[in-house]
Amino acid sequence: MKTLMPVIKWPGSKRPIATQLHALWPSSRTPESTYFEPFIGSGAMLPGRPCVRAVAGDVIGPLIDLWNAIVDRPDDVADHYTSIWDKRQATGHTVFYDVRDRFNEHYDPLDLMVLSRMCVNGLIRFNKSGEFNNSLHHTRPGIKPETLRSLLHAWARALGNVDFLESDFEDTLAPAKKGDFVFLDPPYLGTRGRYKPIAFDFDRLWRVVEELNEKGVFWIMTLDGKAGSREYNSNAVPESLFANKFLINTGNSPFTRLMNTSIDSVREAVYLNFDPPGQRMLGLPENRPQPEQSV
Ligand SMILES: C[S@@+](CC[C@H](N)C(=O)[O-])C[C@H]1O[C@@H](n2cnc3c(N)ncnc32)[C@H](O)[C@@H]1O
Repeated sequence: MKTLMPVIKWPGSKRPIATQLHALWPSSRTPESTYFEPFIGSGAMLPGRPCVRAVAGDVIGPLIDLWNAIVDRPDDVADHYTSIWDKRQATGHTVFYDVRDRFNEHYDPLDLMVLSRMCVNGLIRFNKSGEFNNSLHHTRPGIKPETLRSLLHAWARALGNVDFLESDFEDTLAPAKKGDFVFLDPPYLGTRGRYKPIAFDFDRLWRVVEELNEKGVFWIMTLDGKAGSREYNSNAVPESLFANKFLINTGNSPFTRLMNTSIDSVREAVYLNFDPPGQRMLGLPENRPQPEQSV
């Protein structure tokens, strides 16, 4: 299954475990099957999605505008990045802050691309007023323009059949039908209004997941499992909703790095509402008997 180098950087990207997750999808799909990803962020799972047609949503409007720009006009995105990169070489760091001020006024997705590739650790971050507030990564020049251009074209080719929606997850998933596939990667903190993080309403997600089960939609969900000794949401999914659960080691947590605490090894909890063919790649399920395997 396909993964690509990230084109947009995003906290909580599933790229480190994308290959393992791709291997879990059942092979039973029809030409009409659609893949849904209602919490798209940097879209790490999208290039290797199990079916061609796909719907991807997120509540952050400029992020969705950027995805549409990447697919529809990758050279415009690359040209804009190149012009800012050249200016930065010629005039220094102030150009980053000019772009940031302009983005916070007009929310141009091409400026978001620049901010994403030049800010500290690539962390897209908004303050309470919805303004992008991360600073320039002084010690790194940002991805080289020609590397970004070929990456943009690779992503544009891979995402030709994807509809991107600025949308709450519940609306994105409303059309999902029997035999469709959904990847759920909800935030620990939700993002509402002007991208302000508030506690995510997991009860609402459980209701939506129950509807997916009733409709016969396949889904995989990842939740921050255990970071070091801390427990985040690892046992939060009601038992009645899923068929299998695994824990995958994902390496170090960007969250704990951000909080300047000791770096933990993070275990991502993965839930499924079906028995996966690629289960052996991950080891035994954590707390369920091993189901019959078709591999
Ligand atoms: C953990 S990130 C997804 C990361 C993504 N899987 C990746 O590989 O980059 C969660 C995403 O959910 C979005 N989000 C938060 N609340 C949402 C909601 N109610 N509906 C849709 N998206 C939401 C956030 O903006 C964020 O991009």
